Amino acid sequence: MASTNFEKYKSDGSLQGNVLEWFDARFPATSMWKAHLSEYYAPKNFNFLYFFGSLAILVLVIQVVTGVFLVMHYKPDASLNASGIPVAFASVEYIMRDVPWGWLIRYMHSTGASAFFIVVYMHMYRGLIYGSYRQPRELIWIFGSLIFLCLMAEAFMGYLLPWGQMSYWGAQVIVNLFSAIPLVGEPLSTWIRGDFVIGDATLNRFFSFHVIAVPLVLIGLVAAHILALHEVGSNNPDGVEIKKKKDANGIPLDGIPFHPYYTVKDIAGVVVFLMVFSVILFFAPEGGGYFLEYNNFFPADPLKTPPHIAPVWYFTPYYSMLRAMVWPFLGLDAKFWGVVLMGAGVVIIAFLPWLDRSPVKSIRYRGPIYKGFLVAFLAAFFMLGYLGTQPPTPVGNFLCQVGSLVYFAFFLAMPWYTKIDKCQPEPERVTFK
Ligand code: HEM
Repeated sequence: MASTNFEKYKSDGSLQGNVLEWFDARFPATSMWKAHLSEYYAPKNFNFLYFFGSLAILVLVIQVVTGVFLVMHYKPDASLNASGIPVAFASVEYIMRDVPWGWLIRYMHSTGASAFFIVVYMHMYRGLIYGSYRQPRELIWIFGSLIFLCLMAEAFMGYLLPWGQMSYWGAQVIVNLFSAIPLVGEPLSTWIRGDFVIGDATLNRFFSFHVIAVPLVLIGLVAAHILALHEVGSNNPDGVEIKKKKDANGIPLDGIPFHPYYTVKDIAGVVVFLMVFSVILFFAPEGGGYFLEYNNFFPADPLKTPPHIAPVWYFTPYYSMLRAMVWPFLGLDAKFWGVVLMGAGVVIIAFLPWLDRSPVKSIRYRGPIYKGFLVAFLAAFFMLGYLGTQPPTPVGNFLCQVGSLVYFAFFLAMPWYTKIDKCQPEPERVTFK
């Protein structure tokens, strides 16, 4: 095993052994390598859904690296240049046309944002179906939920930067939502914008948040997320705790060292991901208008409101919840309740560990009621996502209401239906299906 080699190196008097010994006396290199890789025992039965955690790290690295190169040429400036084009918009066009390989870096970053959400939604779905949020992994889930919130903030602020029509009007709509909060709403939204409309001040602060503040928090949360995971150990598709059955050396019977077994397996996932990502990047970087909206190829024009303003696809399920609320209530207008519903839709995810009362974790041993609710939830999520990309219609708004109802019912009725459902007994050890 790799860890034994370290000990051998350190005592063999070789140059690399001496360097390692010197290093180790000053930094916990070997012990960290062991704790997180060569002696971190992960369940043997991980399937392809377990690729998405390491893929999320990969996409995070892609976003940071391409972001660093974009910042070298991008200018957060809303004033107009000699041709009457906003400087920020023109600087993105300069990156696309004149900077060597700039188009690739820019598309990697803009398509990478959608890839990030695809990977993270799959990662959350895996956690959902295998009950990975359940005790003792509540904190992993809470850190994950905070990551999801940060990711949304990061993507929202990043989308303003190219200063296209959708950047401008999307930000206008979303920041205006804060004005629906009673008493403090108006001053709050002015404070966020730094102006009475989206303008240069907004662009500069969003740039600052997008480039440094939010990424720092995000990276800190990812570190906390993985440390919490390594404290309790990974769940698996059977939802059984491998730490309950150990051999004489204290090693879980159903565990294998993360390195080399899962590092090698994850590389296979990375290769497949990069192939798919490259195909999209080179042949359809704007994702048919879903990853980069067509209207965003026009410079921001405060005097020309686009007829249909829709956020990027990863926000649309929640945008539909905003639209679902059409009734004023308790003297507060419908917009306010829409904002509350949209926020609640994101926040409720963090409460899953305390809503689920099932005796089993994994979908493999759950009963028909849970499975029925899960299918309805997924259908509602996709429907809300689709409706959010479309212009509002009476039928569409009604479907948004039905979808939101099903979405929330999945969570709020969970304590009840997970208790009465007929589950199968969990196996003692992991299985291989
Ligand atoms: C930047 C985003 C994220 C990164 C880089 C990330 C990274 C990881 C990694 C590397 C693992 C271990 C490998 C694996 O189990 O797949 C993991 C596990 C986990 N993550 Fe994330 N994660 C992210 C976002 C999230 C989000 C948004 C949630 C949920 C709200 C979440 C929930 C979980 C859970 C529950 C586990 C444990 C899974 C298990 O043991 O079965 N993660 N994450």
